[in-house]
Amino acid sequence: QTGMFTYDPGFLATASCESAITYIDGDKGQLLYRGYPIDQLAKSCDFMDVSYLILNGELPNAAQKSEFDSLVTHHSLVHEQLHFFLRGFRRDAHPMAVLTGLVGALSAFYHDSTDITNPRHREISAIRLIAKMPTLVAMAYKYSQGQPFIYPQNDLSYTGNFVRMMFATPCEDYKVNDVVERALDRIFILHADHEQNASTSTVRLCGSSGTNPFAAIAAGVACLWGPAHGGANEACLQMLEDLQANGGIAKVGEFMEKVKDKNSGVRLMGFGHRVYKNYDPRAKLMQETCKEVLSALGLENDPLFKLAMELERIALEDPYFVERKLYPNVDFYSGIVQRAIGIPTSLFTAIFALARTVGWIAQWNEMLSDPEYKIGRPRQLYTGAVVRDVPAQR
Ligand code: SDX
Repeated sequence: QTGMFTYDPGFLATASCESAITYIDGDKGQLLYRGYPIDQLAKSCDFMDVSYLILNGELPNAAQKSEFDSLVTHHSLVHEQLHFFLRGFRRDAHPMAVLTGLVGALSAFYHDSTDITNPRHREISAIRLIAKMPTLVAMAYKYSQGQPFIYPQNDLSYTGNFVRMMFATPCEDYKVNDVVERALDRIFILHADHEQNASTSTVRLCGSSGTNPFAAIAAGVACLWGPAHGGANEACLQMLEDLQANGGIAKVGEFMEKVKDKNSGVRLMGFGHRVYKNYDPRAKLMQETCKEVLSALGLENDPLFKLAMELERIALEDPYFVERKLYPNVDFYSGIVQRAIGIPTSLFTAIFALARTVGWIAQWNEMLSDPEYKIGRPRQLYTGAVVRDVPAQR
């Protein structure tokens, strides 16, 4: 019994830690950030409200929100030398390769916030990471486009600043469109934390050695990149585009047969989840956001959205998916929304990392604040050779 939740002993044996940040009920399809249902937060808060909540455990009042906004805003600039560090990459480097490098490199620039035993250092490094991720992701994008970096502007919202840094150029400023800003802010909220997923567990394990926060978060970025985890949104959109290019809706039945054929190696990307054995609540909210954005942009007939809806309709009736409790997850619709607002596919996972940074930091802080915490060191079952001697004649 922990607070309002009871766990069966079998589950307790598999739990890697205790946490008070995010609760998932995979059977009910329920997701709570600090006790608040994700759908209520997505509809009545912005990403800065939710970031404050995940970090501090309570929603901010007006004064706390204004102070947090101002702190984050005034740390959004990155050290000018990082522009030169970035120039060491090839222009066609994947944004996640660049982001992994840039986030790790922050520990070489912000020595005054790397001592994890100093609460002040931990506070400042958290703000710096949350504040600088949009700037770093936008820099990685601009670099890939061969365009100059756009500096953050202090009179814009967190999400508005990111959109402007992505799409403005020195020749022409970018007026932040509120449909795009609201859609991205919603995407950030839905990706902010998700209890002990692979990348969060990586941040906890890496951070448990006492390494600095920038190195621990860089490890999380690297893990998130995988197509089975944060890379699934990019893989899902690729899957939809390939299907659309090869017959579209008319070929959905044939494609689904391939997905069900074990030997094909084809998975329905954006479907299935380690924990949700019901509809991922974030996928429902993402589908709603998709409809809102496409209609606001006059793209109601977007073929990829129609294709995704048809794949979902078939999967929810097909015994293969029903028996295995495979439902859409957060990645199934997020790529369609991002593509509609002009985000390049290659940047989807970097945007997931931008949003998840606040969750990684909150979980890292929670781990370090546990007086019982020790360096993570999983044990193994050894299945190798029994002890033996090296042959004398070697
Ligand atoms: C994220 O952990 C988190 O919280 C992650 C995340 C977060 O917010 O941090 O929610 C973000 O990572 C979402 C997941 C994104 N990944 C994808 O969409 C990739 C496609 N999905 C899968 O590869 C898979 O569903 C996983 C990895 C997500 C979950 O795998 P599980 O729960 O370990 O399921 P499994 O691999 O054991 O599969 C169970 C069965 C198998 O069939 P059988 O061997 O029983 O015959 O279901 C099948 C699988 O082959 N299956 C799928 C499938 N996912 C599972 N078959 C077709 N398409 C799929 N997507």
